[in-house]
Amino acid sequence: MPDLATHLSRAVGEAFGAAGLDPALGQVRASEVADFQCNGAMQAAKGAGKPPRAIAEDVAARLAGVAGIANTEIAGPGFINLTVDGAALAARAQAIANDARAGAEVVTPRRVIIDYAGPNVAKAMHVGHLRSSIIGESVKRLFRFRGDMVWGDAHFGDWGFQMGLLIVSLEERFGSVESEAVKSAITLDLLEEIYPQAASRAKEDPSFRDLARKATAKLQAGDPAYRAIWRVMRDVTMATLKREFAALGVSFDLWLGESDADPLIPEMVVDLETKGLLEEDQGARIVRVAAPGETKKKKLDDGSVVVAESPDPLLIISRDGSAMYGTTDLATIVQRVRDFHPDLVLYVVDQRQADHFEQVFRAAAKAKYIPREKLEHIGFGTMNGVDGKPFKTRAGGVLKLNDLIGQAREKARTRLQEADIGTNFSPEEFEDVAEKVAVAAIKFADLSNFRGTSYVFDLDRFMSFEGKTGPYLLYACVRIKSILRKAADQRVAAGPITIAAPAERALTLALDAFEGALAASYDRRAPHFLAEHVYALSQKFSAFYDQCPILSEKDDAVRGSRLALAQATLKQLEIGLDLLGIAAPERM
Ligand code: ARG
Repeated sequence: MPDLATHLSRAVGEAFGAAGLDPALGQVRASEVADFQCNGAMQAAKGAGKPPRAIAEDVAARLAGVAGIANTEIAGPGFINLTVDGAALAARAQAIANDARAGAEVVTPRRVIIDYAGPNVAKAMHVGHLRSSIIGESVKRLFRFRGDMVWGDAHFGDWGFQMGLLIVSLEERFGSVESEAVKSAITLDLLEEIYPQAASRAKEDPSFRDLARKATAKLQAGDPAYRAIWRVMRDVTMATLKREFAALGVSFDLWLGESDADPLIPEMVVDLETKGLLEEDQGARIVRVAAPGETKKKKLDDGSVVVAESPDPLLIISRDGSAMYGTTDLATIVQRVRDFHPDLVLYVVDQRQADHFEQVFRAAAKAKYIPREKLEHIGFGTMNGVDGKPFKTRAGGVLKLNDLIGQAREKARTRLQEADIGTNFSPEEFEDVAEKVAVAAIKFADLSNFRGTSYVFDLDRFMSFEGKTGPYLLYACVRIKSILRKAADQRVAAGPITIAAPAERALTLALDAFEGALAASYDRRAPHFLAEHVYALSQKFSAFYDQCPILSEKDDAVRGSRLALAQATLKQLEIGLDLLGIAAPERM
């Protein structure tokens, strides 16, 4: 059964058609003043040479007797306001209550790869990785729920210059990287201690930088000892990362790394060469991606301004012969096309990498690896500190996922204690609830903003049980669960749904809006539409529960109907939250 908006859009579209106008004008949407409204008459007026009100009246007259419409009204310059009848609302609520998907449609399945998180060996994760993990996980769940075949890939950064820096530092510290001692000494803590020192030393010390470059090249060329130590560093990091991601409710189908694309590079370079796409540029090898005439003004180091092609060419092989970030991304496309035949590849990565992806995507299309429209960069803004700059920890360093989760869990415990929640729980249950509250707070705060917007990290606000927060939504779920438990204890059973009271109408309209919110989140790859929906739904439930008693209702049929509405609401809330990557506890 389609949602009411779809059903009504079809009916109003047919009325526009019967009036000799474009049926597409019949699109309706939720309204503040009625149940739904259609603005098509205003759009139609120009072309039809008639006043919009006259068109609206004509269309409205043709809607008389249409199933589901109780009343039409023309407002203002020609808005068509529609009120849905109680029977249609009841039928829709019943369909949602009976449906395991709570009223959500499925799409024609596609093969979709989602590239997200993108953590690196040794380099600590920053807010970009955190946001990518949260948004990517939600987009993955959303696409899968809509019916697509989805692979989430962590695209592990395990192949760049940082590996050379680490190897050279380990050689210095342990004499060589071949001993068992060095292998067993490697922990994430050690790597995270060594890497920042090595990175800053490389900036000041050209000979050290050179050593690290050579080590990187030697590793990439397949030196057995370097490969062996590289594998240890990679495995140690991956094991820790998997644990940290699990704590955040983030998991991947593939843990392919940049290194996995490396074997494809030589052949790809030959292929680009054969296709005449590779050009020599001051000793480096590049692929030009700007169309003729696509230019921008560029400031040179000496201060002069020149007109240069835009986007910049994609650097394939640097002057000293190494493969670059863009090279692995291009080779990864070759690999993904070969192994997965994707219809769509989504890259959930910080907005600041937009130019990089534009270059890579254009190069991939030029080389005919995959059409440009099958590649999409899903960019996002930053999570900022109160200073307006990307969030750092109190010590000023970049954020570590573990620290953030720990900090949130700590705050969740305090909040629960302050609210007297869980005083009678076992320690295990209390910890489980604190963990769920922590994750819900962090994720909902992120996902309730449009992904392109930057927002300020404010754990106190995220963790509040009031307002548009994750903990509030968990509380809403738990409250319904407790009503359902009481109903079971009192042997009250759900019955057929009827809709009469205004709060029942409003709750049903909110339930009906799920499909539209899912479609918007899916089409725009933007989970905030769904976040907005679950919040609105929980508020409508709250108003319903205030105005429409359930267990204390005397009339059996009304009580059974309201209980069924409560069950349907919980099901949809839990599905919606799960698609945001959020799980609710049984009680709190
Ligand atoms: N590892 C990269 C970074 O830390 C992010 C990877 C994003 N994905 C990609 N295919 N380039 O910035």
